[in-house]
Amino acid sequence: MKNQAHKLTELIKQNENEQDTRFIAIASGKGGVGKTTLSINLGYTLSKMGYKVALFDADIGLANLDVALGIKTEHNILDVLQGKISFDETLTHVEDNLYLIPGASGEEILKYNDTISLENFFSETEILNEFDFVIVDTGAGIGESVQNFCNASDEIIIVTVPEPSAITDAYALIKILHTKKEKLGMIINQSKNEKEAESVFQKISLVASKNIDNANLHIVGAIEKNTDVEKCIRKRELFTKEHPLITPSIQLESIAKNIIFNLEQNMLQGEERGFTKFFRRLLAKF
Ligand SMILES: Nc1ncnc2c1ncn2[C@@H]1O[C@H](COP(=O)(O)OP(=O)(O)OP(=O)(O)O)[C@@H](O)[C@H]1O
Ligand SMILES: [Mg+2]
Repeated sequence: MKNQAHKLTELIKQNENEQDTRFIAIASGKGGVGKTTLSINLGYTLSKMGYKVALFDADIGLANLDVALGIKTEHNILDVLQGKISFDETLTHVEDNLYLIPGASGEEILKYNDTISLENFFSETEILNEFDFVIVDTGAGIGESVQNFCNASDEIIIVTVPEPSAITDAYALIKILHTKKEKLGMIINQSKNEKEAESVFQKISLVASKNIDNANLHIVGAIEKNTDVEKCIRKRELFTKEHPLITPSIQLESIAKNIIFNLEQNMLQGEERGFTKFFRRLLAKF
């Protein structure tokens, strides 16, 4: 493992091309709160704003990004890591400026650890440097794989719904993730209105500030529960595309703007970022 870490460091040194790609992990604790729905629609919203976006599927469950988008994929990131195919073969066009990278779970990557060809992999990832954002849709729960994908990302957004059990699970995740990340963002999905969303956030924020040292939670936004959203999910459509004027689409635009604002703040602080950095952090775990 040490040898592999050394190899990685060398490869990263060789990679002169500094990247600006920002990785945003979408996580939740409790399943079924809307991670995939928010990931694809946030991706679409950012792409409409002129950013080049990739959706990275880090969930290997049944409700995958490709399913949610109604797209068929043949390969995933694991095939690239193993040197079987090139990276651009996994990139699937979704819309203008919007692509899908079918992923694999951390466990899957771990299983194939010995056969991973990092040299090939990093020479391939250069094509991805042109992306402005990669949205990482993680699975439910607080398992190691979810933690790894979150920690490897530049920003983490934790999604919850107003239900007590979802709030409890989101809090459990916050407790774990805050040890590695200074700032954690939150989206309150399926709320009745902004007031309810704000009160859910205040509740979590209060408990966090009492129990977690240096807890730095911020609300990135809220999305209301909406039947058009539900219908689009069932039809495997992007609600932001089909209904750009409904409240959830406008709320998602404001979320995208908040993310960009935070990004500009962090840029001023000169954070390191990019694809190589993301995969270095991820693979360093193995
Ligand atoms: N804003 C919303 N308004 C109405 N329904 C919603 C909204 N967001 C999510 N849903 C409902 O929640 C369900 C689950 O959404 P989604 O698949 O995005 O969750 P998830 O967190 O990705 O789930 P998993 O943990 O299984 O990956 C959807 O099928 C839909 O019925
Ligand atoms: Mg999902």
